[in-house]
Amino acid sequence: MKDANSPHAAHEHQRDSFGSSFGVLVALAGSAVGLGNLWRFPYLVGENGGAAFILIYLGFVLLVGVPIMMSEFIIGRRSQANARGAFKKLAPGSLWFVSGTLAVLCCLLILSFYSVVGGWGIEYLFKAFRFDFTRGGDSAGLSTLFSDFASSTWRPLVCHTVFLLLSGLIVILGVKNGIEKFSKVMMPVLFLIIIVIAIRSLTLPGAGAGIDYLFHPDWSKVTANTYLAALGQAFFSLSLGSGMVITYGSYVSKKENITAISAKTAAADTLFALIAGCAIMPAVFAFGISPGEGPGLVFITLPHIFSQLPLGGFIAILFFVALLLAALTSSISLLEVIAAFCIEEFKMKRFWAVVLTLFVLWVLGCLCSLSQGVLADWKIFGRNFFDLFDFLSANVLMLLGGLVAVVFVGWKLGRTVIHDELTNSGTLKIPVWLLDTLLFLIRFLAPAAIAVIAIFQWV
Ligand code: TRP
Repeated sequence: MKDANSPHAAHEHQRDSFGSSFGVLVALAGSAVGLGNLWRFPYLVGENGGAAFILIYLGFVLLVGVPIMMSEFIIGRRSQANARGAFKKLAPGSLWFVSGTLAVLCCLLILSFYSVVGGWGIEYLFKAFRFDFTRGGDSAGLSTLFSDFASSTWRPLVCHTVFLLLSGLIVILGVKNGIEKFSKVMMPVLFLIIIVIAIRSLTLPGAGAGIDYLFHPDWSKVTANTYLAALGQAFFSLSLGSGMVITYGSYVSKKENITAISAKTAAADTLFALIAGCAIMPAVFAFGISPGEGPGLVFITLPHIFSQLPLGGFIAILFFVALLLAALTSSISLLEVIAAFCIEEFKMKRFWAVVLTLFVLWVLGCLCSLSQGVLADWKIFGRNFFDLFDFLSANVLMLLGGLVAVVFVGWKLGRTVIHDELTNSGTLKIPVWLLDTLLFLIRFLAPAAIAVIAIFQWV
């Protein structure tokens, strides 16, 4: 029955898959937890006034993020195919698959700049191991240190290359032996490290102001932009609209509970973001730094804090290890979307699919890296390569991908299929009110929310 709609039944038994429920959860959470939590979330919270932003963000994760994740999950698991193949199998002869092709393109764009930032993480880990941040250093000096490094030509390129190679090695090993094994070990380590840093930060004298900032909402700071930023962050942080959940979902067995896994993934991602907030904000306040520092928070402000903190040298090492692990478990998910596409759509071997993808990514990533320095003046639509790739993926392609996913599942596949997938053909008991609520979110609320944010952004 499973293969009734599959033209590729013979080739299907060779598909890799996750080995356990825990493996599925850590792989998905690994994709979700990344630079988005450690770097983007704290600075957005800082720029948007703290607790009120967090509450709005939580609302979006629950009401919009989870339904989109479940929709992508349904597409992936039902089709057992890559992001483009999935639409072709579920809606043969139609144009829905274009959305899958765009998703692959989206991952390519994201990973191009993501691997550059990952490379910066490698450099900073290196610096941390040399205890560079413990030798005094005022924030002006650290700011020059960062911009000098990021705008130089060779070192960032070398770091970017190393980061890509590390991701490639894991993905070449496959889904069960590479991605799942790596995530199973690294995700618990990552959580442990960030909890240790949070405890250190929360016990600083003056940490209370940071906690206040994180948990006492000031609604007067909320504007239309706050909502846009919060929904955008929910998309980015949960890795939505880019074929990731479709691809990982396609490696998941028909026995897993889609509702539960989606809720747990979202919970893990949100919990991690909040703990990261607790690790960063109290320290920011204790040392009298402005929380609205912007994207430089991680690479400029934090080293400054490390340089003044008792045991700061070790905390710096822990922090940049965490940053690198978080970035790697996310980058492998982006790489897997592209690799799965090459393997299934062009019948390539996994090894060659990854090598080819890495090569393309390396070239695009070099452009992003150099756009911080020698290529700063090469602009397309007024943006350098780094900003253009960021804008196209986060502000255009991901929103489009998320919208298509919920509309496809809500209206094209429809109620019976959703019911069938969420209850695993009737074997799972899911209360009717929950199914009805989810159906409403998938069909109406999520598409409306995405449409509103898209219109606000593009007009
Ligand atoms: N969610 C990751 C983060 O928070 C980034 C990421 C991984 C991602 N895969 C993605 C973002 C797919 C968008 C789309 O850092």
